[in-house]
Amino acid sequence: MSARILIVEDERITAEDLRDILTTLGYSVVASVSNGPDAIALAEETKPDLALMDIQINGVMDGTETARILRERFNMAIVFLTAHAHPTTVSRAKFAEPLGYIIKPFQEGELRASIEIALHKHRVDLNTLGKSELFASTLRAISEGVVCVDRVECIAFLNPAAEGWTGWTAREALGRPVGEVFRLLDAASGEGVETPLWRVLGEGSLDDLGESILLLHRSGNSQPIAGSIAPLRDHQGNVSGAVIAFGRATVEPRSVPAEAILEIETNVGVGGFKMVAASPAMKQVLRFARRVAESEVSTILIEGESGTGKDIVAQFIHHFGSRRLGPFVAINCAAIPENLLESELFGYEKGAFTDARAPKAGILEMASGGTIFLDEIGEMPLILQAKLLRVLEEQKFRRLGGVRDIQVDARVLAATNCKLSEAIEQGKFRLDLYYRLNVIQVFLPALRDRKEDVLPLAENFVRLYKLKFKREIQGISNAAGNVLLEYDWPGNVRELRNVIERAMVLEDSNWIQASSLHVGSPGSNPPLNGSANESANDVEEANFTISVEEIERKLLSKALLKAAGNQTRAAVILGITRDTLRYKMKKFSLR
Ligand SMILES: Nc1ncnc2c1ncn2[C@@H]1O[C@H](COP(=O)(O)OP(=O)(O)OP(=O)(O)O)[C@@H](O)[C@H]1O
Ligand SMILES: [Mg+2]
Repeated sequence: MSARILIVEDERITAEDLRDILTTLGYSVVASVSNGPDAIALAEETKPDLALMDIQINGVMDGTETARILRERFNMAIVFLTAHAHPTTVSRAKFAEPLGYIIKPFQEGELRASIEIALHKHRVDLNTLGKSELFASTLRAISEGVVCVDRVECIAFLNPAAEGWTGWTAREALGRPVGEVFRLLDAASGEGVETPLWRVLGEGSLDDLGESILLLHRSGNSQPIAGSIAPLRDHQGNVSGAVIAFGRATVEPRSVPAEAILEIETNVGVGGFKMVAASPAMKQVLRFARRVAESEVSTILIEGESGTGKDIVAQFIHHFGSRRLGPFVAINCAAIPENLLESELFGYEKGAFTDARAPKAGILEMASGGTIFLDEIGEMPLILQAKLLRVLEEQKFRRLGGVRDIQVDARVLAATNCKLSEAIEQGKFRLDLYYRLNVIQVFLPALRDRKEDVLPLAENFVRLYKLKFKREIQGISNAAGNVLLEYDWPGNVRELRNVIERAMVLEDSNWIQASSLHVGSPGSNPPLNGSANESANDVEEANFTISVEEIERKLLSKALLKAAGNQTRAAVILGITRDTLRYKMKKFSLR
């Protein structure tokens, strides 16, 4: 098919000559016009391949301006045909990026050669353009992020996926230092990491982004990524920049084979509980506790540091005992005022004391046929200890103000956090009661002494909070698993549960990453709040020129921002109750 040419020439004679020559040469002349606007209108209508243009034409637009529009709008090849070869005319003509410039008067052969070369070059250009459009649409379509940087590590390109990952638009990011837009963190420490870009730029070698890396989004969220960096070279083969290609890191999960874990589910207490044990020590404890539970032993002492699971083991023993269908009544001796504890335990008759207007059964009676759980027995007042000893020995008691003996028909479980020996030394706990309680003792080892339980427990809590927070968290990443195993757990299982609860709220990805685990932070272990557990860094980081209130306010707004305004999540992040959060929000006028 012959090439289709548009003639733009305001001298009629020349225009007619040109049409004849071009037709003779075998081209198809689509039109011949004498001004810019007509040229544009006809180009729109006829879509020619090439425009043969005079530069000085009549009307508001000269040839160079018209040519520029034709090229930009219709992607046409331009060849100028003019009597003017003045340097200023030539420089102006350059703006239209012509593919030929013929000076009048011209030879027919010269005209033909120029048109052929221009058409050929135009086809090559279109081909190249097609390829770069193909590359551009590929880069737009892929879900992997692509970031290009120049020699001085400034952003030269960002594909739409990278825009999504970083939160920066390509337009905003262009020319900024890469570290400002593409911010990497170490997943374990949460600290910034330099991309190994300088090595790629310096040595021209390929490199990986590194393991356990998080990419920080502009909003503050972070996601685990993996990827590589490759050098970009100019036409001389010199490194002119680098391209970072990255995507979501496939998380290596950390879990313990199911057959190694002993899980016992029961329905004692509110909503029941699930007991998890994988360590030989804890499995041994549970085997023993179960044997004891199934025996006729009436008094059992459960010992263990705070948060080791004394409550849950008490429920476990009740569940496996012959009185499982009877009530499980717990009383915390530390939580009830001294003067009330006695009447709570023994109950009273009408008129036993001023406020005793009607008779009331105590816990010893209420638990009849079931189990009494005396939590924190070490806090029981000495006088009451003597009375309790008598009850345990005689298996009967009287209500306060009562004259009738009541038979005790309940198993008594007592719990203490291992400080009973100290209390005995200080004369705060009766040795005879201790011996009476200590006939059968279930000792719960500290979590740091049974590390095999850490991951199974953590996964159990992940499953629990997954339901509670309706989060699609799949499990614990390998790096996060290491963090959990390396920690000493002064707050035992309770601290682990709190750490996982917080992580479930903070985590943005589908796996619990090391960066979301705040082990050793005050919120992770409320009972030890403010003790040696508080990291020195937290204190160093606080600027002493601002007040505690200001810090509190900042923490509150940060948590609310992180939780997207969800008060329940914000409270968990801060390790406070929702009521406290609400109170403080009101105090600081936060919304
Ligand atoms: N083996 C376990 N399996 C599952 N959950 C456990 C286990 N041990 C403890 N927990 C959980 O850890 C938390 C703390 O346990 P628990 O309240 O029984 O500890 P405690 O020793 O009674 O603490 P304290 O001395 O403070 O009273 C609870 O949420 C409990 O459900
Ligand atoms: Mg307890």
